[in-house]
Amino acid sequence: MSYRTHTCGELSGRNAGEKVRLAGWVARIRDLGGLIFIALRDRYGKTQVVFDYSEEIAQRARDLHPEDVIQIEGIVRLRPEDMINRNMTTGEIEVTAESVNILSSAASLPVGVEDEEDPGRELRLRYRYLYLRRPRMLGNLKLRHEALQSVRRFHDEEGFLEVETPFLIRSTPEGARDYIVPSRIHRGSAYSLPQSPQLYKQALMIGGVDKYFQLARCFRDEDLRSDRQPEFTQIDVEMSFVEEEDVLKHTEAMMKRLVKDTRDSDISLPFQRIDYAEAIADYGSDAPDMRYELFIKRCDEYFSGSGFKAFETVLSKKGAVFGISAASKGGLSRKERDNLEVMAREEGLAGLLSVPVREEGLTGILGKLFNPDMQTEICEYMKAESGDLLLFAAGDCAATLDSLGRLRRHLSELWNLADDSELKFCWVVNPPLFEPDEDGDGLTAVHHPFTAPTADDLHLLESDPASVYSQAYDLVLNGVEIATGSVRIHDPQVQKQVFRAIGIDDVEAEKRFGFLLEALSYGAPPHAGIALGFDRLVMLLAGESSIREVIAFPKTNVASSLMDGAPSEMDPDILKELGLKPVKSS
Ligand code: AMO
Repeated sequence: MSYRTHTCGELSGRNAGEKVRLAGWVARIRDLGGLIFIALRDRYGKTQVVFDYSEEIAQRARDLHPEDVIQIEGIVRLRPEDMINRNMTTGEIEVTAESVNILSSAASLPVGVEDEEDPGRELRLRYRYLYLRRPRMLGNLKLRHEALQSVRRFHDEEGFLEVETPFLIRSTPEGARDYIVPSRIHRGSAYSLPQSPQLYKQALMIGGVDKYFQLARCFRDEDLRSDRQPEFTQIDVEMSFVEEEDVLKHTEAMMKRLVKDTRDSDISLPFQRIDYAEAIADYGSDAPDMRYELFIKRCDEYFSGSGFKAFETVLSKKGAVFGISAASKGGLSRKERDNLEVMAREEGLAGLLSVPVREEGLTGILGKLFNPDMQTEICEYMKAESGDLLLFAAGDCAATLDSLGRLRRHLSELWNLADDSELKFCWVVNPPLFEPDEDGDGLTAVHHPFTAPTADDLHLLESDPASVYSQAYDLVLNGVEIATGSVRIHDPQVQKQVFRAIGIDDVEAEKRFGFLLEALSYGAPPHAGIALGFDRLVMLLAGESSIREVIAFPKTNVASSLMDGAPSEMDPDILKELGLKPVKSS
């Protein structure tokens, strides 16, 4: 006999009179004296089960606890008209219980399932299996599943091959530290877990696979945030005989399909494209949120010789002044404006000059220092009108832009400027190939060192590498970088030049990437690709603010799994076998 004839989300008026068997968790118990109502829950929904006091089994129902797992058998009947709940599929009916069987009883729960109250990070992760019972979390897992299936179907229809690449590999640099797996057979040697399958997908192109995709698990030992986990999933794509444009089009079509399949809504194509330099200059970020304005504008010329000493000093030291116009925020109180300044300082700015714009012109210090023509001019430049608020900050150009980029995000949250239901995609294109490294005395790759320089800049690779642009692209959704990719280098000589530019000489390159250089020498097709951060994408589709909420078993921000206690101390015998010595943890 099967455990159930129906799920708890399935029965409706059409089943009235049928004898059914259901199994699930006791979500709620209401004893109304005479009748006991139990809401029985499973992944699919809830069904109301009624126990009549006059029947013997009412006694058994009284002994039930929330979250006990039970099986009931009974007859479906229509609810009285005034008890119908039109908001749920099963709201028309209830099941009058004829038998009840406790399959597993539940102790008192440390994490509530039926309330939406946040139990806090610790409990959410430690009792993940209880937290997952919440309909919101099961809904997120379902959405994730639907997104996975959509991506698979799409790539299959487009002729892509799904190829699995290994987890135990030699390091692929993606900017983080590797997770290391010591080898027992080769004592003293270790594998790295892949930060991404980058070099393997390039090897697949050299192998003639032509169109590859994989829902690839990636591992990175880096500082964690709400949109970073030590292990995460990428929709990893690589294509041969294509250019940048082909990859962008392919990705757009995939996103359109994915949004249609998961949200049943249409997005318009193509996505807006913005130059990397423009994104930094206008939004202070390489992942601009385009759902709201608050554009950043360079204002040096208005302040040099203005008499506003603090900014003049910055300008005299080769710094810059920037402004943001906040529409209709001119009425903020002094205290609210002071709070903005505190926020600005927390983001690393030396200060924030806030100037409400009135019908008669600028107020405050700029009202005094700027003559009426200059006031009109700066308002026109900043597209500010009476009732708006102008915000100005000065300092080192790159650092101030970076701080203003973060301030812009805070302001949008504070003032609720972004529409949460909107999906605003944009491509950030044409970034430089290199940027100064952390020490500031060398260069490092902006994307990764396998990214091709733009053809026009190839000749500058040796003489002036810092000025070379790359054929890389990022996809940004609502201010979150959800994908990056590039056209790859397929000429071993160019690859060596790029390595040299980032301080990897030919000997070192041979040692670390000899296999790639050799592979490129046996006939490598021009190829390009992209990888989408699948967890981030699902987070945004689900309207969540952390990727943890769309991952079944995520880790804390110090990379621990609170449910099973990973990482755990290593057994001395295993260490010995691996040829490793224990070090006391600090
Ligand atoms: P990149 O390192 O930019 O590129 O990664 C691609 C995308 O993966 C997501 N992502 C993460 N998501 C969750 N947690 C993390 N720790 C994390 N790190 C990255 C981001 C990011 O945009 N091999 C290249 C891609 C390519 O060139 O094809 C790569 O891995 O959404």
